[in-house]
Amino acid sequence: MRDALGAVQSVLVLGGNSDIALAIVDRLVEGRTRKVVLAVRRPESAQSTIDRLTAAGVAAEAIAFDALRTEEHSRILGDAFAKAGDFDLVISAFGMLADQDALDADPLYAVTVINANFTGAVTSGLIAADLLRKQGHGTLMMITSIAAVRGRADNFLYGATKAGQDLFSQGLGDSLVGSGVRVVVVRPGFVHTKMTEGLKPAPFATTVDKIADDVIAGFSKGRETIFAPSILRYVFALLIHAPRIIWRRLGG
Ligand SMILES: NC(=O)c1ccc[n+]([C@@H]2O[C@H](COP(=O)([O-])OP(=O)(O)OC[C@H]3O[C@@H](n4cnc5c(N)ncnc54)[C@H](OP(=O)(O)O)[C@@H]3O)[C@@H](O)[C@H]2O)c1
Repeated sequence: MRDALGAVQSVLVLGGNSDIALAIVDRLVEGRTRKVVLAVRRPESAQSTIDRLTAAGVAAEAIAFDALRTEEHSRILGDAFAKAGDFDLVISAFGMLADQDALDADPLYAVTVINANFTGAVTSGLIAADLLRKQGHGTLMMITSIAAVRGRADNFLYGATKAGQDLFSQGLGDSLVGSGVRVVVVRPGFVHTKMTEGLKPAPFATTVDKIADDVIAGFSKGRETIFAPSILRYVFALLIHAPRIIWRRLGG
């Protein structure tokens, strides 16, 4: 339960090894967050993070979670909530970035990416929202992407999965008005993380620290949609209306 000052005390991260999510968690821990559960494919892969958080006085643990194993989501999230008592914040951070040429060559690989980024976000998102609604408070933070806003030739499948996740999250948030639960959509631009290692940075590319600052600022202000970096809100307010011929010339 958030404390008397409204600060987040407990967090569940789905895709708990995400560099972006962990930067957000670090900011929260600098505040009043004292309980962190990292849901990851292999719990042992999160051990160094658990050790670091524990050393900082946080009750931290890793649990097994695979976005592709949708049939397990209800049990895993149910158990996590039952054990923790409650969560003030659930961050949905898992995701697969796949090379568009590889996807073009193998449509079944495309299905895997769709299932991880969209189907898995929907099942775990619906379940998390229901658990938050039952406890009567909390925030579901869905990390989508600026790629959700406008399709690009070089990553349109990834963009489509993120657009689906983004629209799902907006509607879910609207459906929860009055329940005490809100959904926050975070749309990062290009961020230097494991996911983008070796890729050519896009304009306005930035670091996880800058993203975390923008996310925490937007979250504190009660924003429902957070562009990170925040300048992308204004850049894409224009780009969304650019004729497609211009958008393609810009690399879209
Ligand atoms: N970096 C960017 O430029 C950027 C831009 C826009 C949006 N995003 C989105 O931001 C989120 C976080 O990405 P990031 O940049 O922090 O990348 P990251 O550090 O690579 O984190 C992505 C995480 O997703 C997890 N994951 C992948 N498939 C999974 C599955 N089937 N089940 C459970 N977990 C799975 C990975 O887990 P393992 O540790 O097990 O491999 C990995 O830790 C993603 O949703 C991404 O699409 C990133």
